[in-house]
This record gives sequence, structure tokens and C-alpha cells, in this order.
Amino acid sequence: MPSRLEPEPIPRRDFLGLAGLWTAALAIFGSVVGMVRLTKPSVLPEGGSRFRIGRAEEITPGTSLTLPEQKVLVTSEERGISAISLVCTHLGCIVSPTENGFSCPCHGSGFGPDGKVLGGPAPRALRWLEVTQAVDGRLVIDGSREVEPGTFYKA
Ligand code: FES
Repeated sequence: MPSRLEPEPIPRRDFLGLAGLWTAALAIFGSVVGMVRLTKPSVLPEGGSRFRIGRAEEITPGTSLTLPEQKVLVTSEERGISAISLVCTHLGCIVSPTENGFSCPCHGSGFGPDGKVLGGPAPRALRWLEVTQAVDGRLVIDGSREVEPGTFYKA
């Protein structure tokens, strides 16, 4: 006689039927979760990020400053201050500054010092970003506003 301590064994046919049902239920559940996730982007576009850096006089002319969090390279030279996005125009990897410009580690695109494409699959040049000055005198870079390559902010 079966008891709670010694339950009656499940017949093999019933066990396989139950296993099939649970497998189908899991597959349906996984599909529903996948369909719901498809409606939400897993890679968010770069937001309209405005951020402040130091004052123009604090940036030594002839130097560059990499801002890894903002993915921007700020350069100060005689013509003024410029900001170039470090986001590759191919698939969005972060390019690294090199002696001759920039290189992308993902698919090998190369960019000149002004961001122009020198080789690789990147379809267009790196974006130059608008640099302005805030009321408090600090420089503001607007990641959502692209300017013509070669545009410098003159303090
Ligand atoms: S993401 Fe830079 S070359 Fe593909």
C-alpha cells in the first residue's frame, strides 16, 4: 500500500508525458520572455549628454585630454579647443588615440587626427562635438550636437 514515505512509482509512460509537458511549458515561457524582451532595445542610443570640463585656461595648449566616461577627446591648440567623439561610426566601439589619429579595436577602422576615415569599414568620420562656455566660465561639451570637422572654440 502506498504511503507518503513510500509513494507509488510513476509509470514510465506517465513520467515521459509529464516531462514532455514541462518541456513544452518551459519552451513557451522562454518564447514569451524573448518576445517581450525584443520590444525593448538592448543597446541604448547615445543620449544627449552635455557635460562641463574645466576652464579654457586650465587646459594647456598643445595637449589632449581623454574623457573615457564621456568617450570624448578634448584637444587644445592654437586654433582653440575641440572635442572629438571616440565612438566609432561603424558599430560604436571606442576608438583609441594613436600617433597618427585613432584606431578602432573591433574591426580595424583607422581615422586620421581630424577623425577622417583612413581605412576599414567605418562609413564616416568621427564626430566633432560642440564646445561652448557656460556662465561660470567652464567649457561645456554637448555630445548631442555635432559640428563641422575643424571647428574650434576660441576662448
Ligand atoms: S566598430 Fe569600429 S570598425 Fe567596427
